[in-house]
Amino acid sequence: MKQTVLITGSAKRVGAAIARFLASDGWEVVLHYNHSRDEALRLSNELKETYSDRKFPVIQCDLSNMDAVLSLFGRLPEGIERLHALVNNASTFHSGTIEETSPSFLRKEMGVNFEAPFFLLQSFRNSFDSGSVVNMLDAKITSNEASHAAYLLAKKNLQALTKMAALSFAPAFRVNAVAPGPVLPPPRKSDEYLKHVVDRTPLKQRVDTSDIAASVSFLLNNSSVTGQIIYCDSGLHLL
Ligand SMILES: NC(=O)c1ccc[n+]([C@@H]2O[C@H](COP(=O)([O-])OP(=O)(O)OC[C@H]3O[C@@H](n4cnc5c(N)ncnc54)[C@H](OP(=O)(O)O)[C@@H]3O)[C@@H](O)[C@H]2O)c1
Repeated sequence: MKQTVLITGSAKRVGAAIARFLASDGWEVVLHYNHSRDEALRLSNELKETYSDRKFPVIQCDLSNMDAVLSLFGRLPEGIERLHALVNNASTFHSGTIEETSPSFLRKEMGVNFEAPFFLLQSFRNSFDSGSVVNMLDAKITSNEASHAAYLLAKKNLQALTKMAALSFAPAFRVNAVAPGPVLPPPRKSDEYLKHVVDRTPLKQRVDTSDIAASVSFLLNNSSVTGQIIYCDSGLHLL
């Protein structure tokens, strides 16, 4: 039987790279999107052409709406009976120092970056009898840099949740995380934006999307690993 994984925010960028990699590993991949319907359908068609034994269905959900989040696994695409794995990849990345952060901005950043993965993880645990989850973090969780305070605090919470859930949900479930360094500039930012981060990394190199995807694949496939965080970051977390 084919194993099925749902990847949030997988229509493009890092999520799409993870989808392509896991598809090549033999997974059936459910592609989640919010606004990027065309890109999700294009990726689904591309994968179906390459791997005709699978369907690569798409599913829409606004992860800032917790009612929609809590009902997501109850409305999986036709033909998908259960999930074996979940990759919490979707995120928002907005700047704002502690001084600049309003209550509504904090709730918004926490919503997609922490609350949604929290309740998807909870639903996954309550909906299926076993499985594996990978949360996408950020190598900057080891720092206290406050330029994106709400985002970073959400990712720090997600790191703590990864370990807490790994312990709580064992032995039937494994929960791990990947903490990327500089992979792609944020949407609408140039490569220059990324360059100053890349130059600061010990390895002086941009992180390839395929290295992130391979890290996710490793965590999903290694049945002895839980509560682990792979820093796939050109050494950024060491600074
Ligand atoms: N890019 C990097 O260099 C980097 C560095 C460190 C960590 N990371 C982490 O790696 C992961 C992937 O990075 P990325 O740069 O590829 O992410 P991204 O492009 O910023 O976001 C991925 C997807 O998240 C979805 N999303 C945003 N708000 C949503 C909402 N309200 N409901 C549902 N989906 C929503 C969007 O889907 P739609 O387009 O369908 O709306 C978007 O395409 C993220 O968790 C990020 O924090 C990335």
